Amino acid sequence: MRFVSIALLLLSASSATSGEPSKLRQLDAEAIAIRDSVPADAVIAHRGLPYWAPEETAPSYQLALGLGVDYLDADIQRTKDGILICLHDDNLQRTTNIGEIFPDRQDDPVSKFTLAELLLLDAGSWFNKDFPFRASDSFVGLTILTLEELIDLVEESPKPWPGLSLETKETKLFKGIEADLHSLLEKRGWDGTDPDRRLLLQTFERSSLPLLESHFPQAPKILLLWKGEGYMERVDEAEFVDWLNFGVDNGAQFAGPSLPGPAEYYDLMQGWMVKLMRDARLAIHAYTLNDDFEIYDAQTDGLFTDRADLLKQYYHVRDLRRELGRK
Ligand code: G3P
Repeated sequence: MRFVSIALLLLSASSATSGEPSKLRQLDAEAIAIRDSVPADAVIAHRGLPYWAPEETAPSYQLALGLGVDYLDADIQRTKDGILICLHDDNLQRTTNIGEIFPDRQDDPVSKFTLAELLLLDAGSWFNKDFPFRASDSFVGLTILTLEELIDLVEESPKPWPGLSLETKETKLFKGIEADLHSLLEKRGWDGTDPDRRLLLQTFERSSLPLLESHFPQAPKILLLWKGEGYMERVDEAEFVDWLNFGVDNGAQFAGPSLPGPAEYYDLMQGWMVKLMRDARLAIHAYTLNDDFEIYDAQTDGLFTDRADLLKQYYHVRDLRRELGRK
């Protein structure tokens, strides 16, 4: 088995570099059943509702909960003392006042702070400064949210609950985070085995996907796809097939391509790419779309959005139009 895996790895590596596409692999029946357990047209509230409240804080998720979204998205990192928290960036500068509280540690990653230290930071006031027309006094002094607190927020809300869509990132800083995530989610009943507590896992990290698969074989997973500035011309068919085959072989039932738009994102939804994702039987949850939803509706099965308010409205009106069209 190990020999076969190594042979497959060598095969895909050599064909990716030679420009000769590997044979595209496809989801099997078991993977398709996991894929189909995820609601169609999934509204994934990317970091909560960050247009209206500071990302990944309690009000951001409370607003998304009030909208009845399908999933709450959170980026999972781990403190020095082993607590799993929700935070996107690999340092604390953009979304906290770390410069005031720990001026000598501004570039340090989360892994160098204890939870008690992180709780000294204001994770809300930056939003009021950056977005004065959406500011609120209630955002001042918000604290970074732990994953357990996020689960509490969901379980305090009326059923049906949204699922959790959790991303492991920067996993080189957080060795063993997949096992820690499993321990916590299993303890709270959110490991993907309870239909009332739906779990979707996502990662850009090739090293993390097989670990997520080993801990959460029953949970749907997204292999997120991204390519940095200046590299687009190098995403040829061989490389794209290699990405998709890696996902199919390691427990992903979804591809998560970046959409064109915000400057740091590149177009991985070109027609030939969509065809390959479909041919592999992968479902597509693309990121991050905040308007003009109709452009990508037909090619996607769900969307990460900062504007879950608008995406919910879009799907609702689209369905009404379809109803009218049938009369
Ligand atoms: O979380 C899915 C997608 O939005 C990935 O982008 O930058 O939010 O981790 P990011």
